Formats: sequence, structure tokens, C-alpha cells
Amino acid sequence: MMVRAAVLLLGWLGLVVSCRAQVVAPPTLNISLDEDPELRWLPLTKAFDVDYLKKAAAEVIDSTVPKWVHHALAPVVTALAKYVPQPYAGEIRGMASHLGGSIADVIILNFAYEVSAFCTSIVAQDKNGHVYHGRNLDYPHPVLRNLTININFLKNGEVAYSGTSFAGYVGLWTGQSPKKFTVSGDQRGTEHWWNWWKNVVSAFLFRRSPVSWLVRETLEEAENFQDAVMRLSKIPIITGVYYIVGGVRAGEGTVITRDRTGPADIWPLDPLNGEWFRVETNFDHWLPPPARDHRREAANKALNATGQDHINMETLYQVLSLPPVCNGITVYTTIMSAATPEQYNTVVRAQGCQPS
Ligand SMILES: *[C@@H]1O[C@H](CO)[C@@H](O)[C@H](O)[C@H]1NC(C)=O
Ligand SMILES: *[C@@H]1O[C@H](CO)[C@@H](O)[C@H](O)[C@H]1NC(C)=O
Ligand SMILES: *[C@@H]1O[C@H](CO)[C@@H](O)[C@H](O)[C@H]1NC(C)=O
Repeated sequence: MMVRAAVLLLGWLGLVVSCRAQVVAPPTLNISLDEDPELRWLPLTKAFDVDYLKKAAAEVIDSTVPKWVHHALAPVVTALAKYVPQPYAGEIRGMASHLGGSIADVIILNFAYEVSAFCTSIVAQDKNGHVYHGRNLDYPHPVLRNLTININFLKNGEVAYSGTSFAGYVGLWTGQSPKKFTVSGDQRGTEHWWNWWKNVVSAFLFRRSPVSWLVRETLEEAENFQDAVMRLSKIPIITGVYYIVGGVRAGEGTVITRDRTGPADIWPLDPLNGEWFRVETNFDHWLPPPARDHRREAANKALNATGQDHINMETLYQVLSLPPVCNGITVYTTIMSAATPEQYNTVVRAQGCQPS
């Protein structure tokens, strides 16, 4: 019995040590919204080596878009650039000039990130009505680990909203409006470049938002949790997605399943009926996930085992660290709670997580 306990303890310590060794804090950038969009991303060039950024961006594009398509599309994208709305147009132009690349490539890079992101998001409420929100972002490209950044978007020198993103990207998949709400986005279904390419065109010609731009706009403009849920449910976007939203009061947590034009489903917390957490991966929650994908089941089980009495930032992080919820392509984990914005925390999984 003692020996068994000791072995268990050692095993557990070993696990903790090896996990600790594998996580690093990403750099944090202050981006001022009071600056001209073309200049506001200049802090990137202080936080990163510009040559490395250029190389990394080229790698992401090459692994997402076939080379011939890239060549064929560059002139089309250049022609479409004038349809990109502000402030993104200015930010993209600025990014291209800071990094010494073409505007077309920065646009292609921004849309490259819109595909193949597999993720797990969890919103949960403890017995005292505190709401916690966590997410893993999975992406099959190791270079993104080196491009991950936390960003504080400042207005009048104060943090208007924060998020976690990748250098060169103007949208947000993860973010927090302090004392109001938190949002994460998970990809819905699989997208292929030949489909998303149509989306790019429709984005600019039909003025639909890329899903990560709507997250950023919502963080910037929504007054509270309700308002955020309304905007994230209704505003047209270029492709389906899951938006997971956490608020500051008991019951303020939901998963929005989005079609392009509106909500397909809204799945709020229901703590009075024992449903104190929601797990969303990349499949509609009312359907079983594919047989090979055990992330949802593992997260549900781990949350059940944790219990509503013991859920907090730390135990939520532990759930998101458990294989296969955390896996070989997990890039980063964010834990946040809008009521305590200073606790926003992102760690980069330097080597991903290995199966146990
Ligand atoms: C990320 O950065 C580290 C340290 O600078 C480097 O050793 C590693 O090769 C980089 N990884 C990728 C995929 O570029
Ligand atoms: C970022 O802005 C915040 C809020 O104004 C400030 O407290 C902090 O020192 C700034 N950090 C850097 C690195 O400039
Ligand atoms: C979690 O607990 C709930 C309620 O007891 C149960 O309905 C559900 O099947 C459990 N889920 C898992 C994955 O164990």
C-alpha cells in the first residue's frame, strides 16, 4: 500500500516536472489603439527577430496553400486588398511594411491561420458562481509555438481588451474584455484551402467577417456578456465556428454553434440542473464526435472527477493538460476569468503533450 502510494506520488511528481519543463510564457505586447493602424504593430519588431518572422510566415503559408495557388492568387489578393475594412487594412499594410513583405502575403497569412485549428474550450462555474474559461489551441505547425503572443490592446493607456494570438495575425481566437466577458473560438468542421479561398473572396465582396475579426470587434465593442453573446450569434461571418463565452456572473457561460449567417444552436450553462460546465471541441455537441477523437469524452470525465466544489483556474488548467485534451499539436493553453482579469494566463506547450 505504502509502496504503491509512493510510486504513484513519484509518478505524479515526474509528470508535474516534465510538464513544467515543457511550458513557457509567451511575450506580452502592448498595442495602442490610439496609434495609426499602420504603426500600431511596430512593437512586434522589438519583440521578434524580423528575419525569423519572415521565415516563419513563409513556412506557415507554404504548409497551408499549395505553391502554385499562392503564385496564382497573389495578384488577385492584391486587387482585393482595397476591400479589406479598417482597421485591418491599415494594420495589414503596416505589418507588411514592418516585416518587409508584400501585402498579399500578409493577407494570405491571416487567412492561412483560419484553417486547421483544432481546439478544446471549456467554460465552467464553481459553487460560488465564479465562471472560469479555458482553451487549448491545437494547430499542426510547430513554428506557431514561437509566434505565440499575449496582446494588451490599449486605449488611453488602459487595457481595453487582451488576447492571445500569433505574430502577424490581426484577428483573435482567444480574448478577454476585463470585468465583462471572455471569448474563445474553435473551428467547426474541416476547411480546405479550396473552400476557404472562396470565403476570402466573399469576406471582402460581401463584407462578412472572418471569425477571428468578429471576436476582436466583440471584445472591443460589447458592453457585457449578453451583448457579446448577441453579437457573436448574429453577425454574419465567412464560415461556421464555435464561439465559447464566459461572463462575470453565475450562469454566464455558453457555447454558440455558428453557421455563416446566424446561430445553429446556443448551449448555455445550466448549473441549477447540475450542468455546471460545457466542453466544446470541434464537433456539434448534440452529435457524437468521430470514433478516433477522444478529447471531448476525456475532458468531460476529468471535469466530472474534479467536481464543482474544486473547479478553479488551477484545476481547469490540469484538465486542459490531460492527454488527449492536450496533445502533440497543442500550441498553447489559456486560462481566464473575466471577473479577475489580472489572472489571465497563457502558456505555450513547447513540445506539445505526449500521450500518457
Ligand atoms: C523555436 O525557437 C527555438 C528557440 O529560438 C528554436 O530552437 C526552434 O527551432 C524554433 N522552432 C521552430 C519550429 O522554428
Ligand atoms: C503595457 O501597458 C500597461 C497599461 O498601461 C502598463 O502597465 C505596462 O507597463 C505596459 N507594458 C509595457 C511592456 O510597456
Ligand atoms: C458526468 O456526470 C454526469 C452527471 O453525473 C453524467 O451524466 C455524465 O455521463 C458524466 N460524463 C462522463 C464523461 O463521465
